[in-house]
Amino acid sequence: MTYPLPNASTDLSGQVALVTGASSGLGVRFAKVLASQGAKVALAARRVDRLEALAKEIRDAGGEAVAVEMDATDADQMIGAVAKAEEALGTVTILVNNAGIPDAQRAHKMSVELIDRVLDINVRAPFILSCEVARRLMAADKPGRIVNIASAAAFHYAGNGAALYSVSKAAVVRITETLSVEWSRNHINVNAIAPGAFESEMMDGMLERMGDIAQHFPRKRIGNPAQLDSALLFLVGPSSDAVTGTCVRVDDGQGSR
Ligand SMILES: NC(=O)c1ccc[n+]([C@@H]2O[C@H](COP(=O)([O-])OP(=O)(O)OC[C@H]3O[C@@H](n4cnc5c(N)ncnc54)[C@H](OP(=O)(O)O)[C@@H]3O)[C@@H](O)[C@H]2O)c1
Repeated sequence: MTYPLPNASTDLSGQVALVTGASSGLGVRFAKVLASQGAKVALAARRVDRLEALAKEIRDAGGEAVAVEMDATDADQMIGAVAKAEEALGTVTILVNNAGIPDAQRAHKMSVELIDRVLDINVRAPFILSCEVARRLMAADKPGRIVNIASAAAFHYAGNGAALYSVSKAAVVRITETLSVEWSRNHINVNAIAPGAFESEMMDGMLERMGDIAQHFPRKRIGNPAQLDSALLFLVGPSSDAVTGTCVRVDDGQGSR
Protein backbone atom coordinates (compact mmCIF):
# COMPACT_ATOMS: atom_id res chain seq x y z
CA MET A 1 0.00 0.00 0.00
CA THR A 2 1.38 3.42 -0.86
CA TYR A 3 0.33 6.49 1.09
CA PRO A 4 -1.12 9.51 -0.65
CA LEU A 5 0.76 12.49 0.73
CA PRO A 6 -1.27 15.58 1.57
CA ASN A 7 -0.64 18.69 -0.41
CA ALA A 8 -1.43 21.34 2.19
CA SER A 9 0.09 24.78 2.49
CA THR A 10 -0.44 27.92 4.55
CA ASP A 11 1.53 31.10 5.09
CA LEU A 12 3.37 31.01 8.43
CA SER A 13 5.87 33.79 7.75
CA GLY A 14 6.29 35.94 10.86
CA GLN A 15 5.33 33.04 13.14
CA VAL A 16 7.65 31.45 15.69
CA ALA A 17 6.98 27.80 16.49
CA LEU A 18 8.26 25.77 19.43
CA VAL A 19 8.05 22.02 18.78
CA THR A 20 8.75 19.68 21.68
CA GLY A 21 10.00 16.17 21.02
CA ALA A 22 11.62 17.39 17.79
CA SER A 23 14.53 14.94 18.00
CA SER A 24 12.66 11.97 16.48
CA GLY A 25 9.43 10.64 15.03
CA LEU A 26 6.45 12.91 14.47
CA GLY A 27 8.17 15.95 15.99
CA VAL A 28 10.80 15.98 13.24
CA ARG A 29 8.07 16.01 10.62
CA PHE A 30 6.07 18.73 12.42
CA ALA A 31 9.15 20.97 12.66
CA LYS A 32 10.02 20.53 8.98
CA VAL A 33 6.46 21.15 7.85
CA LEU A 34 6.15 24.37 9.91
CA ALA A 35 9.54 25.58 8.65
CA SER A 36 8.54 24.80 5.05
CA GLN A 37 5.67 27.27 5.41
CA GLY A 38 7.92 30.09 6.65
CA ALA A 39 7.72 29.71 10.45
CA LYS A 40 10.91 30.11 12.47
CA VAL A 41 11.22 26.98 14.57
CA ALA A 42 12.69 26.21 17.98
CA LEU A 43 13.36 22.49 18.41
CA ALA A 44 13.16 21.14 21.97
CA ALA A 45 14.08 17.75 23.45
CA ARG A 46 16.94 16.09 25.37
CA ARG A 47 19.00 14.70 22.47
CA VAL A 48 20.51 18.00 21.47
CA ASP A 49 22.84 16.52 18.81
CA ARG A 50 19.77 15.44 16.83
CA LEU A 51 18.14 18.83 17.30
CA GLU A 52 21.28 20.60 16.07
CA ALA A 53 21.35 18.36 12.97
CA LEU A 54 17.69 19.10 12.20
CA ALA A 55 18.18 22.83 12.82
CA LYS A 56 21.07 22.79 10.34
CA GLU A 57 18.99 20.91 7.79
CA ILE A 58 16.23 23.54 8.09
CA ARG A 59 18.72 26.42 7.85
CA ASP A 60 20.40 24.82 4.82
CA ALA A 61 16.96 24.72 3.17
CA GLY A 62 16.61 28.49 3.75
CA GLY A 63 14.63 28.43 7.01
CA GLU A 64 15.40 29.65 10.52
CA ALA A 65 15.77 27.13 13.35
CA VAL A 66 17.43 26.77 16.73
CA ALA A 67 17.97 23.78 19.00
CA VAL A 68 16.91 24.10 22.64
CA GLU A 69 17.87 21.39 25.10
CA MET A 70 14.93 20.62 27.39
CA ASP A 71 13.88 17.81 29.69
CA ALA A 72 10.08 17.69 29.88
CA THR A 73 10.20 16.45 33.48
CA ASP A 74 11.93 19.66 34.62
CA ALA A 75 9.70 22.76 34.94
CA ASP A 76 12.63 25.19 35.04
CA GLN A 77 14.04 23.72 31.83
CA MET A 78 10.66 23.99 30.11
CA ILE A 79 10.16 27.61 31.13
CA GLY A 80 13.78 28.26 30.16
CA ALA A 81 13.19 26.65 26.75
CA VAL A 82 10.35 29.06 25.99
CA ALA A 83 12.57 31.98 27.05
CA LYS A 84 15.46 30.75 24.89
CA ALA A 85 13.19 30.29 21.88
CA GLU A 86 11.87 33.84 22.34
CA GLU A 87 15.36 35.27 22.76
CA ALA A 88 16.57 33.61 19.55
CA LEU A 89 13.53 33.93 17.29
CA GLY A 90 10.89 36.21 18.88
CA THR A 91 7.67 35.58 20.84
CA VAL A 92 6.52 31.97 20.42
CA THR A 93 3.20 32.15 18.54
CA ILE A 94 2.82 28.42 17.80
CA LEU A 95 3.44 25.70 20.37
CA VAL A 96 3.32 22.04 19.37
CA ASN A 97 3.22 19.93 22.53
CA ASN A 98 4.47 16.72 20.94
CA ALA A 99 6.96 15.14 23.40
CA GLY A 100 5.46 11.99 24.87
CA ILE A 101 6.30 8.51 26.12
CA PRO A 102 4.43 5.18 26.29
CA ASP A 103 3.93 2.99 29.38
CA ALA A 104 5.49 -0.01 27.63
CA GLN A 105 4.26 -2.12 30.57
CA ARG A 106 1.09 -3.77 31.78
CA ALA A 107 -0.45 -1.49 34.43
CA HIS A 108 0.23 -3.75 37.42
CA LYS A 109 3.90 -4.01 36.44
CA MET A 110 4.53 -0.26 36.33
CA SER A 111 6.75 1.21 39.03
CA VAL A 112 5.61 4.38 40.78
CA GLU A 113 8.57 6.12 39.12
CA LEU A 114 7.30 5.13 35.66
CA ILE A 115 3.76 6.22 36.55
CA ASP A 116 5.07 9.65 37.60
CA ARG A 117 7.23 9.88 34.48
CA VAL A 118 4.38 9.15 32.05
CA LEU A 119 2.16 11.72 33.74
CA ASP A 120 4.96 14.30 34.00
CA ILE A 121 5.92 14.13 30.33
CA ASN A 122 2.49 13.51 28.78
CA VAL A 123 0.30 15.72 30.98
CA ARG A 124 2.25 18.07 33.28
CA ALA A 125 4.68 19.20 30.57
CA PRO A 126 2.14 20.32 27.96
CA PHE A 127 0.19 22.12 30.69
CA ILE A 128 3.24 24.02 31.99
CA LEU A 129 4.51 24.83 28.49
CA SER A 130 1.09 26.02 27.34
CA CYS A 131 0.79 28.33 30.37
CA GLU A 132 4.25 29.79 29.84
CA VAL A 133 3.66 30.42 26.13
CA ALA A 134 0.20 31.90 26.82
CA ARG A 135 1.59 34.19 29.53
CA ARG A 136 4.15 35.59 27.11
CA LEU A 137 1.60 35.94 24.29
CA MET A 138 -0.70 37.88 26.61
CA ALA A 139 2.17 40.14 27.73
CA ALA A 140 2.98 40.84 24.06
CA ASP A 141 -0.75 41.19 23.21
CA LYS A 142 -0.41 38.65 20.41
CA PRO A 143 -2.67 35.82 19.24
CA GLY A 144 -1.30 32.28 19.20
CA ARG A 145 -1.90 28.64 18.42
CA ILE A 146 -1.28 25.64 20.62
CA VAL A 147 -1.51 22.13 19.18
CA ASN A 148 -1.39 19.25 21.63
CA ILE A 149 -0.52 15.80 20.32
CA ALA A 150 -2.99 13.41 21.94
CA SER A 151 -3.64 9.90 20.60
CA ALA A 152 -6.40 7.64 19.37
CA ALA A 153 -5.79 5.94 22.72
CA ALA A 154 -7.47 8.94 24.39
CA PHE A 155 -10.79 7.67 23.06
CA HIS A 156 -10.35 3.94 22.82
CA TYR A 157 -8.11 1.85 25.02
CA ALA A 158 -6.94 -1.10 22.95
CA GLY A 159 -5.11 -2.95 25.74
CA ASN A 160 -1.55 -4.15 25.19
CA GLY A 161 0.11 -2.28 28.05
CA ALA A 162 -0.92 1.32 27.47
CA ALA A 163 -3.41 1.87 30.29
CA LEU A 164 -1.85 4.98 31.82
CA TYR A 165 -0.82 6.26 28.37
CA SER A 166 -4.48 6.14 27.42
CA VAL A 167 -5.43 8.06 30.58
CA SER A 168 -2.69 10.63 29.96
CA LYS A 169 -3.86 11.26 26.41
CA ALA A 170 -7.48 11.63 27.55
CA ALA A 171 -6.12 14.31 29.91
CA VAL A 172 -4.42 16.00 26.94
CA VAL A 173 -7.80 16.22 25.18
CA ARG A 174 -9.36 17.69 28.34
CA ILE A 175 -6.49 20.19 28.78
CA THR A 176 -7.11 21.25 25.19
CA GLU A 177 -10.78 21.88 25.90
CA THR A 178 -10.29 23.73 29.18
CA LEU A 179 -7.41 25.98 28.05
CA SER A 180 -9.24 26.85 24.84
CA VAL A 181 -12.01 28.35 26.96
CA GLU A 182 -9.61 30.07 29.39
CA TRP A 183 -7.72 31.79 26.59
CA SER A 184 -10.42 32.28 24.00
CA ARG A 185 -10.70 36.03 24.67
CA ASN A 186 -6.91 36.29 24.22
CA HIS A 187 -7.17 34.74 20.74
CA ILE A 188 -4.97 31.83 21.75
CA ASN A 189 -6.49 28.80 20.03
CA VAL A 190 -5.83 25.46 21.68
CA ASN A 191 -6.50 22.31 19.66
CA ALA A 192 -5.29 18.73 19.56
CA ILE A 193 -4.47 16.07 17.01
CA ALA A 194 -5.14 12.44 17.93
CA PRO A 195 -2.96 10.25 15.72
CA GLY A 196 -3.54 6.54 15.26
CA ALA A 197 -0.43 4.41 14.70
CA PHE A 198 2.33 6.24 12.80
CA GLU A 199 5.93 5.34 11.96
CA SER A 200 8.28 6.62 14.71
CA GLU A 201 10.71 5.40 17.35
CA MET A 202 7.80 4.88 19.73
CA MET A 203 6.02 2.80 17.11
CA ASP A 204 9.19 0.77 16.42
CA GLY A 205 9.25 -0.12 20.14
CA MET A 206 5.60 -1.19 20.04
CA LEU A 207 6.11 -3.33 16.93
CA GLU A 208 9.07 -4.98 18.64
CA ARG A 209 7.01 -5.75 21.75
CA MET A 210 3.75 -6.71 20.10
CA GLY A 211 4.51 -7.90 16.59
CA ASP A 212 2.51 -6.87 13.53
CA ILE A 213 -0.23 -4.81 15.20
CA ALA A 214 -1.30 -3.35 11.85
CA GLN A 215 -3.19 -6.55 11.05
CA HIS A 216 -5.69 -5.61 13.79
CA PHE A 217 -6.38 -2.16 12.30
CA PRO A 218 -9.33 -1.64 9.94
CA ARG A 219 -7.02 -0.56 7.08
CA LYS A 220 -4.22 -2.91 8.12
CA ARG A 221 -1.51 -0.26 7.92
CA ILE A 222 0.73 1.99 9.99
CA GLY A 223 0.55 5.64 8.94
CA ASN A 224 3.20 7.84 7.38
CA PRO A 225 3.79 11.02 9.46
CA ALA A 226 3.18 13.10 6.31
CA GLN A 227 -0.49 12.16 6.65
CA LEU A 228 -0.60 14.50 9.67
CA ASP A 229 0.62 17.55 7.72
CA SER A 230 -2.75 18.91 6.68
CA ALA A 231 -4.28 18.66 10.19
CA LEU A 232 -1.29 20.50 11.67
CA LEU A 233 -1.30 23.22 9.03
CA PHE A 234 -5.05 23.67 9.35
CA LEU A 235 -4.77 24.14 13.13
CA VAL A 236 -1.92 26.67 12.99
CA GLY A 237 -3.03 28.57 9.89
CA PRO A 238 -5.51 31.41 9.36
CA SER A 239 -8.34 29.19 8.11
CA SER A 240 -8.90 27.79 11.63
CA ASP A 241 -9.21 31.23 13.25
CA ALA A 242 -12.49 30.27 14.98
CA VAL A 243 -11.56 26.63 15.68
CA THR A 244 -10.51 26.11 19.28
CA GLY A 245 -10.92 23.34 21.84
CA THR A 246 -11.26 20.59 19.29
CA CYS A 247 -9.36 17.37 18.66
CA VAL A 248 -8.76 16.24 15.09
CA ARG A 249 -8.56 12.45 14.89
CA VAL A 250 -6.16 11.25 12.20
CA ASP A 251 -6.33 7.56 13.00
CA ASP A 252 -7.48 5.57 9.96
CA GLY A 253 -10.50 4.52 12.02
CA GLN A 254 -8.34 2.81 14.67
CA GLY A 255 -9.90 4.82 17.51
CA SER A 256 -13.43 3.72 16.80
CA ARG A 257 -13.13 -0.03 16.50
N1 LIG B 1 3.75 7.32 16.61
C1 LIG B 1 2.48 7.07 16.89
O1 LIG B 1 1.89 6.12 16.38
C2 LIG B 1 1.72 7.95 17.82
C3 LIG B 1 0.34 7.74 17.95
C4 LIG B 1 -0.40 8.54 18.79
C5 LIG B 1 0.21 9.57 19.48
N2 LIG B 1 1.56 9.74 19.37
C6 LIG B 1 2.16 10.83 20.13
O2 LIG B 1 3.00 11.58 19.29
C7 LIG B 1 4.05 12.17 20.06
C8 LIG B 1 5.38 11.87 19.40
O3 LIG B 1 5.61 10.48 19.47
P1 LIG B 1 6.48 9.67 18.41
O4 LIG B 1 5.67 8.53 18.00
O5 LIG B 1 7.05 10.59 17.41
O6 LIG B 1 7.60 9.10 19.40
P2 LIG B 1 9.19 9.19 19.44
O7 LIG B 1 9.78 9.03 18.09
O8 LIG B 1 9.58 8.26 20.52
O9 LIG B 1 9.45 10.70 19.90
C9 LIG B 1 9.20 11.13 21.21
C10 LIG B 1 9.83 12.50 21.40
O10 LIG B 1 9.57 12.92 22.75
C11 LIG B 1 10.78 13.38 23.30
N3 LIG B 1 10.84 13.14 24.73
C12 LIG B 1 10.67 11.97 25.41
N4 LIG B 1 10.95 12.14 26.71
C13 LIG B 1 11.31 13.45 26.86
C14 LIG B 1 11.72 14.24 27.96
N5 LIG B 1 11.86 13.74 29.21
N6 LIG B 1 12.02 15.54 27.74
C15 LIG B 1 11.91 16.08 26.50
N7 LIG B 1 11.53 15.39 25.43
C16 LIG B 1 11.24 14.09 25.61
C17 LIG B 1 11.87 12.59 22.61
O11 LIG B 1 13.08 13.36 22.63
P3 LIG B 1 14.39 13.05 23.51
O12 LIG B 1 14.42 11.57 23.77
O13 LIG B 1 15.51 13.53 22.65
O14 LIG B 1 14.24 13.88 24.74
C18 LIG B 1 11.33 12.47 21.20
O15 LIG B 1 11.73 13.59 20.43
C19 LIG B 1 3.90 11.60 21.46
O16 LIG B 1 3.21 12.51 22.29
C20 LIG B 1 3.06 10.36 21.26
O17 LIG B 1 2.33 9.99 22.39
C21 LIG B 1 2.32 8.96 18.56
